[in-house]
Amino acid sequence: MQVQPRPGRPEPDARLADGLAHVAEHNADADAIIICGDLTHTGDEASYRLLKSRLKDTNLPVHLMIGNHDNRAAFRSVFPEAPTDENGFVQQVIDMPDMRLILLDTLFGPPYDYPASHAGYLCDARLNWLDKQISGTGEKPCILFMHHPPHDTGFPAMDSIRLRNGKAFYDCILRHGTVRHLICGHVHRTISGSHRGLPFSIFKSTVGQMPLNFHSLDTSLENNEPAAYGLVLFQDQSILVHTEDYQISGL
Ligand SMILES: [Fe+2]
Repeated sequence: MQVQPRPGRPEPDARLADGLAHVAEHNADADAIIICGDLTHTGDEASYRLLKSRLKDTNLPVHLMIGNHDNRAAFRSVFPEAPTDENGFVQQVIDMPDMRLILLDTLFGPPYDYPASHAGYLCDARLNWLDKQISGTGEKPCILFMHHPPHDTGFPAMDSIRLRNGKAFYDCILRHGTVRHLICGHVHRTISGSHRGLPFSIFKSTVGQMPLNFHSLDTSLENNEPAAYGLVLFQDQSILVHTEDYQISGL
């Protein structure tokens, strides 16, 4: 999301508005909307204010996460009510009756020394916080939401800016045995699979999408495939993950 569309690129504000309207019309019984970052393109306060105005009429609870195109301080200045951990990272826990949702802050910066800091990172403070949140559930299963995938996805450009310390992340979470699924963004393409035995889902973007190009080293590749969002359903003992290309849904 940004104030001015980039030349030749999809218009982010209009596409987000369409997505929110689609959710309101067709999935109004959802418990919440989780926006997995990036919330802006340039991390400026004007973009966050635009986002805030866009979300103000949403009837569902909205939980915001930040990614590599965000600026933590600017975000918190516009969304001071957004939950953070004790160190000021934009991380929170949402407890459902049968599931704990843990939303992570994988933003590497500051310093925002792009392009290096487009990769994600979970410092020791964040990993310790995560460890505590998983420990606190007892046997309750957890789903983790994070902007950067913690493993390769087959796109060399995006893999170069995935979570830098994926091994430490997996070592931290897998020892508990209660994490059931990962949800990620960042890549702008529907991808699913598993890594070290843990299933993951990566959703498309509400703006442009990643073309199926396994060779390019360009991290800004984007095509004009329809915008999309994902739906995660907890049902009996299942976690069901759907995606909706809402601009062509025909509903
Ligand atoms: Fe990203």
